[in-house]
Amino acid sequence: MTTSVDLMVAGSTVRVLVDSAPAPAPGVPTLGPSIGEYPCYDTVSYARMTDDEERNRRFRAALARLTAGRVVLDIGTGADLLWARESLRHGARQVVALEAMAESYRRAGTWLADPGAGERITLLHGNSTDLDITPKADVCVAEIIGSLAGAEGAAAVLTDARRRHLTPYATVVPHRCVTLAAPVAFRQLFAGGPVAFAADSLGYLKTIFDWHGAPFDVRLRVTHPSRDALLGEGQVVEVLDLNGHLPLEQRRSVRLTIDRPGVMDGVLTWLRLWCLPDGEPLDALRVASNWASIYFPLFDSEQPVEAGDMLDLTVTSTLSEDGVHPDYHLDAVLRTAIAGTRTASHSSPYRGGGFRHHPVHRHLFP
Ligand SMILES: C[S@@+](CC[C@H](N)C(=O)[O-])C[C@H]1O[C@@H](n2cnc3c(N)ncnc32)[C@H](O)[C@@H]1O
Repeated sequence: MTTSVDLMVAGSTVRVLVDSAPAPAPGVPTLGPSIGEYPCYDTVSYARMTDDEERNRRFRAALARLTAGRVVLDIGTGADLLWARESLRHGARQVVALEAMAESYRRAGTWLADPGAGERITLLHGNSTDLDITPKADVCVAEIIGSLAGAEGAAAVLTDARRRHLTPYATVVPHRCVTLAAPVAFRQLFAGGPVAFAADSLGYLKTIFDWHGAPFDVRLRVTHPSRDALLGEGQVVEVLDLNGHLPLEQRRSVRLTIDRPGVMDGVLTWLRLWCLPDGEPLDALRVASNWASIYFPLFDSEQPVEAGDMLDLTVTSTLSEDGVHPDYHLDAVLRTAIAGTRTASHSSPYRGGGFRHHPVHRHLFP
């Protein structure tokens, strides 16, 4: 069941289609806006990260190996000062922790009362790209990785950090992140459930729209998507090598092979992350974590496909106006045995870029 809810944004009303279930059962697919790239972090989203054992055990293993006796920089420490405190636990000589959001910075400060923390952790408020720090750090932990790996601006932030904040041979955690994509039909991600925003995502939608000053076609974040919706193997469409070549902008073309008959109208993307080069990767579609998946619409309607059909997909990321967060653009050519060739494209800027452009967004914002 769905219902419509009116949000007030910049003096006008935005109607949103909402799942009427007050709280979906655990493991059920849910829809919300992608939030990590916006100043949306609240108690709930920090708790989800602080309690994310799949993520945390990988970060802990990396910090245990790298931080003893070192100067550590924690970019985006969050309200729980998490990786700064963890680095201290493993014997870091000194830690500088940076947090951009004022309320999160204030809450992080309360952890400095812990024994030893106040003396060895320096907590600063602001964006890493605007701040100066001393001394330069030997290790940088930067959990500014999105469900779409680069969406939170990791490439620009780490490029700036390497230039200004880190020693020449500093190590960054995580080590590598990639985004994968596979063909899907949006409706099928919800396994017969309502195709509508979860009630608890309304606050985030309002925060994002208020921050921008108007509604726009937000990226669509799907938790627990039905794996049956995937019509083929995922392929890597974005790479962030945080200890290697890290371009600010990138363009990747892949051929996605459809491996069974069905319908598709877009692609589902998700994160795979390595905290250490030899560590076990976290694949956000295979293990439960705070990272979800992002659906990008391509075609206006569902396209029938057969096993052996192909989707040629090019994903381009370019820096948005703020010089940090990427805009994404997708170009696709669907090659089917029965219906021939169809082309489609989709732009997903960091902010703005139109409202209710695609049928999926018109459905969600009726
Ligand atoms: C995904 S959360 C991670 C929080 C915490 N480090 C953790 O792993 O649980 C990212 C945090 O980084 C902050 N942030 C993002 N980019 C930043 C930057 N360039 N400088 C400082 N803080 C940043 C956000 O406000 C947010 O609190």
